[in-house]
Amino acid sequence: MRSLSGIQPSGRLHLGNYFGAIRQYLKFQDEGNECFYFIANYHALTSIQDKAELEEITLHVATAYLALGIDPERSVFFLQSDVPQVTELAWILNCICPVSMMEKATSYKDKIARGLPANMGLFDYPVLQAADIIIYDSNVVPVGADQKQHLEMTRDLAIKFNLAFGETLVVPEAYIVPEVAVIPGLDGQKMSKSYDNTIEIFQTPKATKKRCAQIVTDSTPLEKPKDPDKCTVFALLKLLAEPAEIEEIEKKYCSGGYGYGHAKGRLAELINDLFAEARQKYVELEKDPDFVRDVLSEGGRKARQTAETTMTRVRSACGILMNRKSG
Ligand code: ADP
Ligand code: TRP
Repeated sequence: MRSLSGIQPSGRLHLGNYFGAIRQYLKFQDEGNECFYFIANYHALTSIQDKAELEEITLHVATAYLALGIDPERSVFFLQSDVPQVTELAWILNCICPVSMMEKATSYKDKIARGLPANMGLFDYPVLQAADIIIYDSNVVPVGADQKQHLEMTRDLAIKFNLAFGETLVVPEAYIVPEVAVIPGLDGQKMSKSYDNTIEIFQTPKATKKRCAQIVTDSTPLEKPKDPDKCTVFALLKLLAEPAEIEEIEKKYCSGGYGYGHAKGRLAELINDLFAEARQKYVELEKDPDFVRDVLSEGGRKARQTAETTMTRVRSACGILMNRKSG
């Protein structure tokens, strides 16, 4: 089975990215599946149009993936832009994609509502994402719930292509784990780089503690009982603590005498413990950006090979003649 996923280098990685997506990437890798993981820098260009910023975040995300355990020996790990075939496939898919499908995209509408300029790249974003997935004959795509519609569009486009040109493309499936589908941020909304409500993975323990202290809670006094199910701190604790501790904290919430401050402090400790090793590895990798670039270069080479094989099939299926001798 082939697993594929990508993250846009549009901000620093946070707990939502880890629990909603990266942890599942690692699961597929550890189970010995064929894995393709990449950094969607063409997608990021729809919203970041600053050379230094895009380069800096691209390298951050690459370093972060490696520090968190993506292993280039077991996973093909690469940059989207190192596989130019993907934009070629996006064009071909554009030609079979109804405009009405893109007009229904909720992420496009959300981005416009947040004030992003309505460029064609933003409108066409789901088609490029479909190309990302389809070009590697991917079977499963581990993502958070916000990507569900993009995955449905990808399946629709693969099916449409096969109907129009004969069985050519693998129809992929989203892999969304319900318990971690939407990780809440500091304000209780979905944690997202765009909402400035994230807890970053790679920051100092002190900064983590400060960020946890900013989680919005209600004004129930310390001695009064609290409802754990309405509390963002508890929702995050449930992701990190062992079952026995979760039960114990739940009891403390319900019986009173346990303040949100206590829960926030414990949450920060758990986050700092979980990422201690990855943070150390990140610092080491950061000192050697050439190593990170070499890893991406080798991953890109492998990804291009797979992409070119699919494209040979795709071009032939739809009558696009190619006269060049090699990819
Ligand atoms: P952001 O919303 O911060 O811009 P991305 O869109 O780059 O994050 O998401 C990268 C991956 O992480 C996607 O698979 C996405 O579904 C997942 N993800 C991001 N935020 C969350 C969240 N709060 N809960 C669950 N998964 C998330
Ligand atoms: N749209 C995804 C996000 O914002 C990023 C992405 C681009 C992606 N191409 C992909 C995710 C292909 C999975 C598969 O998170």
